Amino acid sequence: MAGAPPPQQVHVQFGADAATQAAVSWATPAPAARPRLRLGLADGGHGLEVPAEERVYTEALTGELVHTYHARVAGLPPGTALVYQVIHDGADPVAGTFRTGPRGRGKGFRFTSFGDHSIPGPAGHGLGPHTPNAGYIVDAVNELDPLFHLMNGDLSYANMSDAPVATWAAYFTNIMRSARHRPWMPAAGNHENEVGNGPQGYESYRTRFELPGNGSAEFAGTWYAFTVGAVRVLSINNDDVCLQDGAFSSYRRDHVPGYRDHGHDPYIHGYSGGVQRAWLEAELAAARGDEEIDWIVVCMHQVAMSSAHLNGADLGIRQQLLPLFDAYGVDLVVAGHEHHYERTFPVRGVEPGSSLLTPVPRSGDPADMDTRDGTVHMIIGGGGHSVPRPAAGHGIPPEGSLIIGVGPGGPQSQRRSVIAAEPARWSAHRDLATPFGFASFDVAPAGPGGTCSITATYYGAAAGSPVYAPLDRFVMRKPAGTRCGGPRAEQLARA
Ligand SMILES: [Fe+2]
Ligand SMILES: [Fe+2]
Repeated sequence: MAGAPPPQQVHVQFGADAATQAAVSWATPAPAARPRLRLGLADGGHGLEVPAEERVYTEALTGELVHTYHARVAGLPPGTALVYQVIHDGADPVAGTFRTGPRGRGKGFRFTSFGDHSIPGPAGHGLGPHTPNAGYIVDAVNELDPLFHLMNGDLSYANMSDAPVATWAAYFTNIMRSARHRPWMPAAGNHENEVGNGPQGYESYRTRFELPGNGSAEFAGTWYAFTVGAVRVLSINNDDVCLQDGAFSSYRRDHVPGYRDHGHDPYIHGYSGGVQRAWLEAELAAARGDEEIDWIVVCMHQVAMSSAHLNGADLGIRQQLLPLFDAYGVDLVVAGHEHHYERTFPVRGVEPGSSLLTPVPRSGDPADMDTRDGTVHMIIGGGGHSVPRPAAGHGIPPEGSLIIGVGPGGPQSQRRSVIAAEPARWSAHRDLATPFGFASFDVAPAGPGGTCSITATYYGAAAGSPVYAPLDRFVMRKPAGTRCGGPRAEQLARA
């Protein structure tokens, strides 16, 4: 076995309880013998050895077999710096570090977020998006040293590539200098749907990550939740509820062997048959009833509101998700899909008589928001993809763009979106000039009699520039009480 290829694409994930649970994952181009993780305290060496589980999938386009390895650990000390090595027989170990999350609301921390990433250079024939900024943004995130990162879907865009396995390798190789030192926690976007790779096309995505369980073997890894301090993060997959036909790839249609014979169809609207929504409602109810949780953050891909004229927001999200966000007081949504930066006032309910279910802004201060008033939505879709939205693609004043249905189509031809426009009273701030960027979130510790707050800062960069400058900042806060984010009935009474 001497001379075996070393572990590649090393990355960390939190378990359901970030204070005590984590997983380290990696990939190899050939089967690894005795893959394992060595883990220990930063000042104590690698005392614990954990065998890794192998999980494989076969890429439908090329027939390549991909080997991934996942080592899960539990019972870790909260708020603690750890060191690790991943290793298999015949190869040198690869080292990494990470910190477990704090326990409870007494300690602050930082996380970061963006969507729509892609890769720094071409893979295969370069059919998929790739930009220098897809590399620069990893370094910009690292400079802020977040505890973890939320990746809001459209990771590698491998579904557009003639070389999807190489595209994923480029993706993980690029993020590894950050993701082997902190969890990059993903949500599956429409470009994670690689037709032919499993029933919803997510087999590559699901195989490559080791994510908290959701009670379903069939949909393991497609949606999940985890807790960091007093923040409960729910990562959901909106292809289940969106009307848009967003995963169509003419390349895969024309090149996945047996595409037509297998009955492949990229349009997976409603694929879970309500299983995901039922899970989401149960999770939201549990989080809102948990005295230890101050903040509910939803990480998802497609958006409920947008004033860019790119994809448009999706009526399916308003129909199926926003009533739950309202009922259980979701504080913050981070998303992507639209390739610009925009954020809303706290929204709740529907404009009277609106057939588009247009959300209602509940306050008018774009800098300081009380999320008891409603949910703040952020579009952070400038991770690095090669289709930035030019300023000309936005209505002035802001005009919302909403997908209200799809036209004819099928597995062989994409269903075109049917778009409606609406006044965008909900839009609090948007950036029409900066194509690339990410947000950081500073969660302040909440003391008795104080205020709990999250300060969000958006960092943007010009195309081709590695300089990410702070361009927007706002605060979400709640007055201290017995518990931040009181019962929903109390919030509704204030409406
Ligand atoms: Fe995208
Ligand atoms: Fe997308």
